[in-house]
Amino acid sequence: MTLGLLQPEGEIETQRLILRPMQETDIDALHLIFTDPGVTASFGIEPFSRDQMEGWLRRNLDHQSAFGYGLFSVILRESGTLIGDCGLEQMEVEGVRVAELGYDFRSQYWNRGFATEAASAVRDYAFAILRLPRLISLIRVGNLASRRVAEKVGMSLVGESMRHGTPYWTYSIEGPSKPPGESPAEP
Ligand SMILES: CC(C)(COP(=O)(O)OP(=O)(O)OC[C@H]1O[C@@H](n2cnc3c(N)ncnc32)[C@H](O)[C@@H]1OP(=O)(O)O)[C@@H](O)C(=O)NCCC(=O)NCCS
Repeated sequence: MTLGLLQPEGEIETQRLILRPMQETDIDALHLIFTDPGVTASFGIEPFSRDQMEGWLRRNLDHQSAFGYGLFSVILRESGTLIGDCGLEQMEVEGVRVAELGYDFRSQYWNRGFATEAASAVRDYAFAILRLPRLISLIRVGNLASRRVAEKVGMSLVGESMRHGTPYWTYSIEGPSKPPGESPAEP
């Protein structure tokens, strides 16, 4: 397990990062991610407008209130800079509720292992603290960097599906098995 120190405020510390619950005041830093040409190209979308960014952030804050967890803002410890987001989002896939593990980072910080470090900590938090039974990641077919992160956190390809006309790989990982008689927590 690579779970970093879990602070009372709900923060997770890893070797180089702090993952802390997202806040309304993160909007400007988050907007830098979702207007980053590398990030928007990965999603095949236009850069977010301010309205879109506010809506995205509002949905995550509402998710945090509803479920007690959501996407974290990822802060680089050495500088205090918000460089990405990583966390969990409830969704329904083929009629089943499941938590998705997601991550987005500003392109100037890519390929230094930050997404893997953050996603590994969220995986451990999801299984050890939230006791979720399973995590998935839905990855746009062809997003090789995201696929590699999923592989590095221990996920396996379990399927491919169309969402809104776009093909996605489904990566999945099961939590550790529970002692007999102990049922896994519902997501
Ligand atoms: C996906 C993303 C979060 C990865 O962040 P990151 O911090 O660079 O990830 P890491 O450094 O931990 O790992 C990246 C891995 O992908 C590999 N990689 C990067 N680009 C690649 C490419 N074009 N083809 C194959 N592998 C690639 C890297 O070599 C590295 O693997 P390695 O450690 O085995 O060498 C980042 O690229 C991103 O924010 N992309 C835009 C948003 C996005 O796609 N989010 C995911 C939605 S499902």
